[in-house]
Amino acid sequence: MADAAYLGLDLGTTAIKALIANSAGEVLWRLEKPLTLSTPRPAWAEQNPEDWWEAALAILREVPKTIKIERMGLSGQMHTLVPLGESRDVLRPAILWCDQRSSSQCGEATRQLGGEGRVVEMTGNPLYPGFTLPKILWIRDNEPEIFRRLETVLIAKDYLAMKLTGEIGGEPSDASGSSMLDVASGAWSLALMKELDLSPGILPPLSPSTAARGRLTAELAKQLSWERIEVASGGADNAVSALGLGIVEPGDCMVSIGTSGTVLGVTAARAPDPTGRLHFFRHVIGDAAYHMGVMLSAAAALNWAKDKVAPMAGWPELEAEMAAVPAGGDGLLFLPYLQGERTPHRDPDARGVLFGLSSMTDRPRILRAVMEGVTFGLRDSFEILKGLTDASRVLAVGGGAKNRLWREILAANLKTTVATAEVDEGGAYGATMLAALGAGQSLSSVKAWAKPGPETEPKPSDIERYDAIYEQFKSLYLDLKDRFKTVAAL
Ligand code: XUL
Repeated sequence: MADAAYLGLDLGTTAIKALIANSAGEVLWRLEKPLTLSTPRPAWAEQNPEDWWEAALAILREVPKTIKIERMGLSGQMHTLVPLGESRDVLRPAILWCDQRSSSQCGEATRQLGGEGRVVEMTGNPLYPGFTLPKILWIRDNEPEIFRRLETVLIAKDYLAMKLTGEIGGEPSDASGSSMLDVASGAWSLALMKELDLSPGILPPLSPSTAARGRLTAELAKQLSWERIEVASGGADNAVSALGLGIVEPGDCMVSIGTSGTVLGVTAARAPDPTGRLHFFRHVIGDAAYHMGVMLSAAAALNWAKDKVAPMAGWPELEAEMAAVPAGGDGLLFLPYLQGERTPHRDPDARGVLFGLSSMTDRPRILRAVMEGVTFGLRDSFEILKGLTDASRVLAVGGGAKNRLWREILAANLKTTVATAEVDEGGAYGATMLAALGAGQSLSSVKAWAKPGPETEPKPSDIERYDAIYEQFKSLYLDLKDRFKTVAAL
């Protein structure tokens, strides 16, 4: 096993990424192919599963012939629905995690199931338009012809697993975000399916994330000139990324600043957040579980702002300008809800706001306000998390965490040391760990792959300043909450 090579494949929103690591966790090879997102209507988001497969196959074909892959693992965007027909044909484009079309289905199903408390009791979470079940109900209500032909629902990466192995299946970490799993017991909620008059037959069988979904199909193995290696079932990208950072014990916390922003804390508790504000999902190891807050626009908000105010400037130049602006940018506040928001507001109608413009406002102040606004959104989730579990070790990852200024702002707002990761490769790295675990490597040997990088300490003067600005940030949303609804109804 000394020179075994494990391949992790992560199906993201903007790209699909593969990485190969050896049994000591050293990265031997990586490759990424971009994916496009279609937005047929505002707040809708779709992709063609066939495009995922084409990109995945193109990557697998480029794996150097000198590397002999021992086992594969998968990771993927959570909640995204792939509806399959009788002959496993894709019935319509996948509806993505960030798609907000199913608000009314959430309300109606919650009423039908006896209110939010009951939904949380049955599934561990309230219904969100981003979750899988409301998307199925949207198809039922709006595309009855497709609903009639629906035989199986898969979550994004399970479609890739089907193409790789020919097997249909699911696993607990992604099933958790479907709103059809009883997260506490780890089994599909058949009672919920019955009460919503949905056939439980559309749900795939579940197996552990490290277990083999199957072996590469003979045809694919031949095409790639590989052995018929095992493909581990894999898991939800946030959970798999957390594993990749060694975030598996209660008290471990990951703050990810990518397209979306997440605050994930492993919990010893076996119970959902009673207020339903943070998600309660299964991890990819044993029966571990975590709480998670999700912002829909994190680094995406900063990229959007840069595009609008400084499209030609480079990040090093902008970062130097932003660092020279005082915290709170002279009274400028940004609400980062460009796509509505999941945690903590659960408000698909919320929108971005730049508040406090003056004749002094310039591009570094705007960009710094955006970075701070996203950080306040992460702080919202972190503060709830601290009430539910001990968040004693915080790792910041994702594109945003590579920015020193952003790490400083984050440390001051979370009021704790924020570490980085030596290998920050998202789900692809964790997926190689899942492959290694299923091949017989121990959890402790695989956890040792994850080495922390440099740490950022909070500056006491920043803590005090941000405490005051954060209060204003929270009040601004409350002041505008009803206004967002009125404007959305126009
Ligand atoms: C988590 C979520 C996103 C996606 C991104 O609940 O919706 O973080 O997993 O791929």
